[in-house]
Amino acid sequence: MPKGTLLLSFLATVFAQDLPNWGKQDLWVHTSTWTPTHCQCYCERLCSHPTDYLKTNLVSSGIVPHNYDWSIPFCNGTIRTYNSDVVRSVGQSDLQTYFPLTMSRDLEHMWDPDSTDPRTDIGQFSYPCGGLHEAKYLKTIVQIAKFIRTPDLIKSNIGKNITTKSIREAFKKEQNLSVVLLCSNGAFADVVTCWSKSTPFLYQTTQASQDIAPAKPVQCPPGIVALDSCKDEYSFIHAMNTTSAPTTVPTSPTPAPPTATPSPSQDPDEVDAWVKNFTKDNHCALFGEDGCEYCAKAKALFASKSATYAYSGIDNQTTIPTGTDIYNSLVRLTHQDTLPNVWIGNKFIGGSDDLQALQDKGKLDGMLAAAGCTKSTPITTTKPPQTTKPTKTP
Ligand SMILES: *[C@@H]1O[C@H](CO)[C@@H](O)[C@H](O)[C@H]1NC(C)=O
Ligand SMILES: *[C@@H]1O[C@H](CO)[C@@H](O)[C@H](O)[C@H]1NC(C)=O
Ligand SMILES: *[C@@H]1O[C@H](CO)[C@@H](O)[C@H](O)[C@H]1NC(C)=O
Ligand SMILES: *[C@@H]1O[C@H](CO)[C@@H](O)[C@H](O)[C@H]1NC(C)=O
Ligand SMILES: *[C@@H]1O[C@H](CO)[C@@H](O)[C@H](O)[C@H]1NC(C)=O
Ligand SMILES: *[C@@H]1O[C@H](CO)[C@@H](O)[C@H](O)[C@H]1NC(C)=O
Repeated sequence: MPKGTLLLSFLATVFAQDLPNWGKQDLWVHTSTWTPTHCQCYCERLCSHPTDYLKTNLVSSGIVPHNYDWSIPFCNGTIRTYNSDVVRSVGQSDLQTYFPLTMSRDLEHMWDPDSTDPRTDIGQFSYPCGGLHEAKYLKTIVQIAKFIRTPDLIKSNIGKNITTKSIREAFKKEQNLSVVLLCSNGAFADVVTCWSKSTPFLYQTTQASQDIAPAKPVQCPPGIVALDSCKDEYSFIHAMNTTSAPTTVPTSPTPAPPTATPSPSQDPDEVDAWVKNFTKDNHCALFGEDGCEYCAKAKALFASKSATYAYSGIDNQTTIPTGTDIYNSLVRLTHQDTLPNVWIGNKFIGGSDDLQALQDKGKLDGMLAAAGCTKSTPITTTKPPQTTKPTKTP
């Protein structure tokens, strides 16, 4: 039997039972990544074996079905490792170049369809309900990575600061793309673009024949524009720091946990569980991002009370789950899409204004003490708060 036939019968089997919320999102959101910024700490395995392309080009780090409010339609489809026939049909070389895997062991194994460790080398198909079948999903990611060209402005200013405005203008002028930029400590890190979705043709009546793919770039809705974190006048364009990159994948002090899910995405249920655990375990918690004025205000109020709290930055993409995944989860769990997102005693408080309101009403001190976040005697005897941070893989 030819390979194509095999592939079709496989897809037909998988989608024999229709998935709820198939393609129900408002749009597709694509993220292009400037990997050198993410490799300044060698927290990603990929940093020790970059392709040449990666050193001077943006690559895809994922495309995710989103609603206008940044939520993801509920989907109970099974998240699973990409099928090796699918990987073969898209091609190891294109996948390595345009959709490199953060978790891969080395270039020989990255996207190797015959890998003996597919969870690490191949990754997982995390959005089975988005409306794209597995093979089409990977092909789309590769195509969009080719479509979003890295502006010469960026390539010719590696290791330098350029105005953030000029980066936006380059995408607009050269490719008519209105981009949402993500920065990390003042350095250009990611480019987020929004895509309208196609509708099925008339004859595509079953999910097995439908692909609700990204159609064309559109202006991102306000809820997504609000994530833009390149607020400084200048943004730094990092170079890939290859001189000190370890030649082999670091394995100490602890090997990668077997349950770690590779980029680009995480099972929403797992991320929700992580967030719930984080807020519970830390008694007081604040989710924020760099350069967010109201986050600074809330932190200052906590500090004025000498309160202990755990901080998680949603602009931190080196954590597992990534900051973006954590943010999505916060919106799902708290229905608040602004930052900071403040918790006291495992209870969601709201943002900076809500925290200030508690202070104005004279309730804050009591709540912090009851939660065990200040030195005053807690009402309940709880173990001291820990500042657990998301674990990252070596
Ligand atoms: C997923 O949703 C479908 C349709 O609502 C339902 O029939 C199926 O049992 C669900 N599967 C799981 C694992 O929840
Ligand atoms: C880039 O700008 C930052 C912040 O202003 C500054 O600390 C850094 O030294 C600059 N780097 C270069 C290479 O100009
Ligand atoms: C540029 O993109 C916008 C959407 O962001 C679209 O409305 C407009 O028609 C595009 N212009 C051209 C010349 O393609
Ligand atoms: C590369 O990394 C080393 C060690 O972390 C550091 O000392 C050096 O300054 C870095 N070089 C560049 C160009 O970032
Ligand atoms: C919750 O946190 C504790 C301690 O930080 C950890 O041992 C446990 O594995 C976490 N559970 C989940 C579901 O993340
Ligand atoms: C991101 O999180 C990691 C792991 O917790 C931490 O080591 C790092 O300092 C954080 N980076 C920023 C910019 O907050």
